[in-house]
Amino acid sequence: MANTILIGAQWGDEGKGKIIDVLTAKADIVVRSQGGNNAGHTVIHDGTTYVLHLIPSGILRRGKVCVIGNGVVVDPIALVAELDGLRKLGLRIDGKNLLVSNCAHLVLPYHRMVDEQRELRQGRAKIGTTKRGIGPAYGDKAARTGLRISDLMQPLLFSKKLQAKIRENNNILETLGAKPISYREVNGSYLAAGEKLRPFVANTVVYLHRALQRGKDILFEGAQGTFLDIDHGTYPYVTSSNTTAGGACTGTGVPPHRMDRVLGVMKAYTTRVGEGPLPTEDRQLAQMLHKLGREFGATTGRARRCGWFDAVATRYATMINGIDELAITNLDGLDHVDPIQVCVGYRLNGKRLKVPPCDAAQLDNCEPIYEAMRGWNQSTSSAKKLSQLPLAARNYVKRLAQLTGGRLSIVSVGPTRAQTIFL
Ligand code: GDP
Ligand code: IMO
Ligand code: MG
Repeated sequence: MANTILIGAQWGDEGKGKIIDVLTAKADIVVRSQGGNNAGHTVIHDGTTYVLHLIPSGILRRGKVCVIGNGVVVDPIALVAELDGLRKLGLRIDGKNLLVSNCAHLVLPYHRMVDEQRELRQGRAKIGTTKRGIGPAYGDKAARTGLRISDLMQPLLFSKKLQAKIRENNNILETLGAKPISYREVNGSYLAAGEKLRPFVANTVVYLHRALQRGKDILFEGAQGTFLDIDHGTYPYVTSSNTTAGGACTGTGVPPHRMDRVLGVMKAYTTRVGEGPLPTEDRQLAQMLHKLGREFGATTGRARRCGWFDAVATRYATMINGIDELAITNLDGLDHVDPIQVCVGYRLNGKRLKVPPCDAAQLDNCEPIYEAMRGWNQSTSSAKKLSQLPLAARNYVKRLAQLTGGRLSIVSVGPTRAQTIFL
């Protein structure tokens, strides 16, 4: 299949998990390179729903190896809980099919608490984070004061470092008006989780390079989406990692010239969970989708904000990720919408913009310029080939691809493996 970087081309929740699960059939290794358990990737198979947070979405397929790369921030307690949950659902996971980088940074309870307190204190200006401690954990990484998996594998060293970190963070928590954290409790629970994770810990950079030498195909599983990227997203309403294609290199140690293609996953409409600008937001569309039981967050259960397909955003995503191929998901969500609006430009202060402005407040003031398209008013969820889609649906996905740039290679018409059209 060649080495493929799969990224979200919108604001997250594009259906990456489903597409990864489908593509894993042709890959050998699936690796996560960034983010943490703020991600929620849904895979539905044989009537069971799996929601993956830290473990790559390739884990359902036997004989494939999943890797949590160095760029991921790992909450060891959450990872152990996720492992236990998946094992209860019947999956076999051991040190042969799951590896965790010894260089990955840890998410600690003070990260979660500081995340929560900052959000509380921001009031209406909050980011709407998942409260998983992601921002503070990456903050420590950048400040060079973080603890890593390799520390956790050395209990004496870990305890010493943890004690100092808890002292420092208890001062911060006190200033924020929150309860202090008990070193003994955290130390005990983290060391216990560390022992459960020990069989999985490896130098994943070396593992991936050896696999490449043997000609293995690697699938790089992006988390979040392009507009949640710390550099390219709608700052400050973003997550704290590079969710764009470059993150796949830094977050795994695999160099750019070993990557063969970039696949951008996008919904046939737009969603966003959390605060921040969403130019094409449309309440009626949101209401309709929510009534169908769709668009509730896989991690926090929050109702997602919904809007029309934003081709200004996806075209920009194509540029900064180098998207070669497109996977359009959730086409079936628009089965009974007619007409369908597509945003083809923004207007800001009387000027027409072709790219999103860098400033979040300016983006918030952008007025979408829409092009109306005919709906198809029938179900698409059993189509197996492009030719089985109604003409209006075919025209719609072709238009989205044309506006976005890149070759349309997958259309998804339902959450299961079978509901996937390859072009
Ligand atoms: P991710 O974070 O990008 O992996 O996406 P999520 O799993 O958070 O959200 C995508 C949701 O859409 C999940 O509930 C999937 O099961 C579902 N899904 C993915 N593709 C399709 C599709 O083509 N049609 C429908 N109806 N649901 C889909
Ligand atoms: P997947 O991988 C959608 C959003 C949060 C918030 C912002 C910052 O499932 O697509 P954070 O907890 O990361 O500090 O929150 O980013 N967010 C996501 N939105 N999908 C995700 O992951 C997200 N991960 C974080 O809602 O707006
Ligand atoms: Mg998700």
